[in-house]
Amino acid sequence: MRRRLVAGNWKMNGSVAAVRDWCATVVQAAAEAPVDIALFPPYPLLAQAMQSLAGTNVQFGAQDVSMHASGAYTGEVSAAMLIEAGCRQVLVGHSERRSYHGETDEQVAAKFAVALDAGLVPVLCIGETLAQREGGETDAVVGRQLRAVLERVGGDGLAKGVIAYEPVWAIGTGRTASPMQAQAVHENIRGILRDANATMAGSMRILYGGSVNGDNAAQLFEMPDIDGALVGGASLNAREFLRIVRTA
Ligand code: PGA
Repeated sequence: MRRRLVAGNWKMNGSVAAVRDWCATVVQAAAEAPVDIALFPPYPLLAQAMQSLAGTNVQFGAQDVSMHASGAYTGEVSAAMLIEAGCRQVLVGHSERRSYHGETDEQVAAKFAVALDAGLVPVLCIGETLAQREGGETDAVVGRQLRAVLERVGGDGLAKGVIAYEPVWAIGTGRTASPMQAQAVHENIRGILRDANATMAGSMRILYGGSVNGDNAAQLFEMPDIDGALVGGASLNAREFLRIVRTA
C-alpha cells in the first residue's frame, strides 16, 4: 500500500553538461517507472533537469529551504520560491546541514513547517552518528529528531511528508547499514508514528539512505519497513541510479 520512492540527492555535484547526459540516459526509463522518483539537484540545475525530464513522473525538489518567508537572508531560498520554480519536494535536516551548518532539531522542524505551509512535501532526514550508535543511543537520537517535528506540526502534518533514515556513519562512506540494522530503526520510527497516529503510521514512507547502490538496494528493499531509498553518490551515475529504480 506504500508506493516505493527512489530519490537522488546530488548534493553539490553536477554541471550543465552532466545534467544533459544524465537526463538523456534516464528519460525513457523514468517515463515508464512503476515507482516514484524524486531528484534533488543543486538549485541552478533544477530548471534544466525539469525541462529535460518533462513528461516523466519524476518529481523535483531542493536540498534545503529557508525557515523564513522572505527578507534579508543572504544565500537562502524560500519555500514559495521553490514552489514557483516547480519543486514539489524538499529535503530538510540532512545530516550535512545539521553537522556543517549547525542546524538544530528546532530549526529543522521550522523548515518542515514552512515547507508544508507552502505545499511542498518535506523529506525529513534523521539519523545517528557512529559515536551515538556505539553508545547505544540510536533510538533516542532518532526519536528526538522525529519528535521535534511531531511537536511542531502534529501527526497530520508529519503525515504529509516523507522520512529518510540516514545513519551518518553510512553516508558517503561505502559502509551501508545492514538490512537488519536499517529495518530495526525503521520499525522503531514506525512505532513512534503509530503512537502519534495509527493511520499515518501505515501510510507514511520511510526511506533508507547511506551508501545505497545497485548491489545492495534489493536486500534493503526486502525489509518490510523500508519504502525506498535516498541515494547520494550512486545517484550521480545515471545507470547506477536506474539499477536502483529497477530494483524498487
Ligand atoms: P550516499 O548519500 O548515498 O552518498 O551515502 C546519501 C545521502 O546523503 O542522502
